[in-house]
Amino acid sequence: MTGVAGLPTTDTQKLRLLLNVSRLIASRLELKPLIEEVVRQASRLVSADRSTLWLYDHGSNEIYTFLGEGLNQEIRMPLGKGVAGAAALERREIVIDDAYSSPYFNPEVDRQTGYLTRSLLAVPMESHDRQLLGCFQAVNRLDDTAPDGIGAFSEEDIDVLTALAGVAAVAVENALLYAEQKRMFNSFIVTLAQSVDAKDPTTSNHTMMVTGIAVAIAQYMGLSHERVERVRIAAVLHDYGKIGVPDDVLNKRGKLEDMEFMQMRSHCIKTILILSRIAFGRGLEDIPRIAGLHHEKLDGLGYPFGLKAEEIPLESRILAVADVFQALIQTRPYKQGLPPDQALEECWVMTRWHRDRFGRESGPHLDANVVNALGEILEANRGQLEFFEKMSGWDLMLAGEDL
Ligand SMILES: [Fe+2]
Ligand SMILES: [Fe+2]
Repeated sequence: MTGVAGLPTTDTQKLRLLLNVSRLIASRLELKPLIEEVVRQASRLVSADRSTLWLYDHGSNEIYTFLGEGLNQEIRMPLGKGVAGAAALERREIVIDDAYSSPYFNPEVDRQTGYLTRSLLAVPMESHDRQLLGCFQAVNRLDDTAPDGIGAFSEEDIDVLTALAGVAAVAVENALLYAEQKRMFNSFIVTLAQSVDAKDPTTSNHTMMVTGIAVAIAQYMGLSHERVERVRIAAVLHDYGKIGVPDDVLNKRGKLEDMEFMQMRSHCIKTILILSRIAFGRGLEDIPRIAGLHHEKLDGLGYPFGLKAEEIPLESRILAVADVFQALIQTRPYKQGLPPDQALEECWVMTRWHRDRFGRESGPHLDANVVNALGEILEANRGQLEFFEKMSGWDLMLAGEDL
């Protein structure tokens, strides 16, 4: 067994590394970071210069590079073409010592990347029920004793990569299922939101715009990816409780009677109650609360609970700014929408003591840090509102595509 300094050589080292990869795989569900780590470890385990993970695309009957070291663009090949394609089609490992003299080798990838392939090892990846998932490929076995530093892959390398491909296959299958569920969930919630917006055609794109504005603010304020996604989902569903508000109240143009006003306000608590019945899953348990608190005010005079300042989660304070700003810029049959800079100014007023729209003395409603973030975003985009449409991810979610 020949080795290279810094790479694992003993069976114990390799076993430990393989176990680490298995542990790591079990703890992640997001496909991309998971595969990045697996690909990196695969190279170390078999002392390869680089490794690539190809996935099988059932629709087109092609395999494509989902992730590869040294690759900056996706490469696609018909199933059966090239070493990876042949290993995937024939469901067996293929080991090649001299690529350019092998009939399997497709020099197209080298031509596209400027890399020189010498030795190759490809093993197929299958799901638990033997469906083809893709192929794991290691390229150029590093070997200090070879004249040019590149040797051939050994029987042991085949065993190690086959073992890794087996573990990775379980993870890839899980991650693909997870991604599929996520896409289904996204298209489902956007469809729900549209059903509410449809109750009042004059505010048809309200939810989409609130989502885009809230997501942009959350990202700008440096919230973690998980928190930004919570903001997105809560924004999509924030007015869902309106489904339980009578249409004539929702669409009434004139002043609302006390009873109607209460019915209108009840949409927040309805949002919480309805969403609480949904099993949101890990990390999303707070969605009903975040969504339902978008009419709370910092001075404690909002609804449904009259929470004050920090008692209101930051995510809900972000929704509040997005909701107010969108309502101000939106043109409706009975009012002309404000230009973004004026709407922003109104939001600033609402961060201080001010007179509310009923002329009442009112304390701070909106969080100044959140309004500040919105101001910075508007300035960076010169007030272009299309930016928020894109940020909402609405069309992608609706089409069940990845965000
Ligand atoms: Fe609302
Ligand atoms: Fe709203």
